[in-house]
Amino acid sequence: MITSEEKASMNIKFENFIDTLAGEDLFGKCDRVDEVLSSGVLTGNEGLGMITMDKVKPELDIREKDGSVHNVIMLGSNSYLNLSTHPQVMQGAREALEKFGYGMGAVSNYAGITDIHKELDARIAKFHGTEDCIVFPSGYGANIGIVSAICGKNDVIINDAANHASIFDGNVLSGAEIKVFPHRDMKGLERILSRIPAEKTGRLIITDGVFSMDGDMAPLDEIVKLAEKYNCRIMVDDAHGVGVVGPTGRGTAEHYGVMDKIDMHVGMLSKGPGGLGGYCAASRKVVQYLRLYARSYFFSTALPASVAGGLNEVFKLLEADNAGRKKLWDNINHLKEKLVERGFDIGHSTSAVVPVMVYSEPILFEMYQKLRERGVYVNIVTYPAVRRKECRLRLCAMKDLSFEQIDRAVDIISELGREYGLIK
Ligand SMILES: Cc1ncc(COP(=O)(O)O)c(C=O)c1O
Repeated sequence: MITSEEKASMNIKFENFIDTLAGEDLFGKCDRVDEVLSSGVLTGNEGLGMITMDKVKPELDIREKDGSVHNVIMLGSNSYLNLSTHPQVMQGAREALEKFGYGMGAVSNYAGITDIHKELDARIAKFHGTEDCIVFPSGYGANIGIVSAICGKNDVIINDAANHASIFDGNVLSGAEIKVFPHRDMKGLERILSRIPAEKTGRLIITDGVFSMDGDMAPLDEIVKLAEKYNCRIMVDDAHGVGVVGPTGRGTAEHYGVMDKIDMHVGMLSKGPGGLGGYCAASRKVVQYLRLYARSYFFSTALPASVAGGLNEVFKLLEADNAGRKKLWDNINHLKEKLVERGFDIGHSTSAVVPVMVYSEPILFEMYQKLRERGVYVNIVTYPAVRRKECRLRLCAMKDLSFEQIDRAVDIISELGREYGLIK
């Protein structure tokens, strides 16, 4: 086992392995990472790359890299509504698979899309009340493509600090001026907006709807007012809100009653909808522009028809608000109540994403390991997704969990929480 002096000398921080050091071969950083990972020091990477041995469901087996198998209660899936295994959705996917095979073999603008794909565009546009919608084969790709197509060197993008990495990557690719306001801080946003020179007229405010790491919501009512005052367009990435929040599950914009004020409704088909892909629902002209200028659309093969077929069934269920949202919310509320009862700090979540603040990386990494061994799967979040001192467990509620499973998971988390002094 490595000594603490050796550990200190390895300088184990994510960001220390990004750059090639002076005089080092290009792959030197890969050697350095390998040395750390094989040293036995806990880095939080231990649980990465484990094998899921069944469909996404409340309790299932996972296999660790060392071959050990654990039966775990699943609190780490973004398939909040369990739509990835919904019989109607699987049937839709199966029918499309039979008809169109398993891959499209072409990008969307050439021979990559079918009537099933066009139906999906129309269903998502209807869901958000927009004229049209473009579907990208990945969510990450959607954000980088949309932002870098719509914004260029003459424009300014104003971001919430907690926006998803793919949005920031899109910012960089766009070549636009990048501004960032503190998380959900409307005074901070206005301070930035008020200082943008008048001649800079291409302005886009981008925010997550439900924030992926905190589970809280962007105050879209206030953002809309500021956007009107300062002539900005608004893009909302509601990856974790669609199907979950809002009176009929249409997301954060519906929650705040501002659906028609959002210029670009971006969503991920991989979270609540349980499939794969990302989209932008917007005006006919914006969507038409994106089809031609979003490079991650034009230069990337279309979504398999089976996924689009499954998603059409998903949007039939979401449109009718018939995907089990009430049961999901019973579980979200139960999970949060139990965690708060035990004394955990769970931040300000108003969605299916529930953080459990840990504030110490060494404790986080140990808890992550022990939770799986004791039968609970959760994700962990630290730098670069959030600041290291705000590191946390990230729990996701899922519709098909029973209260008994949630209680059992909270008991195990509490047992460890007490061992590590997070709760009394
Ligand atoms: C807010 C947000 N946007 C975009 C993405 C990217 O979506 P996908 O995983 O479907 O590529 C994610 C998922 O990690 C996300 O949480």
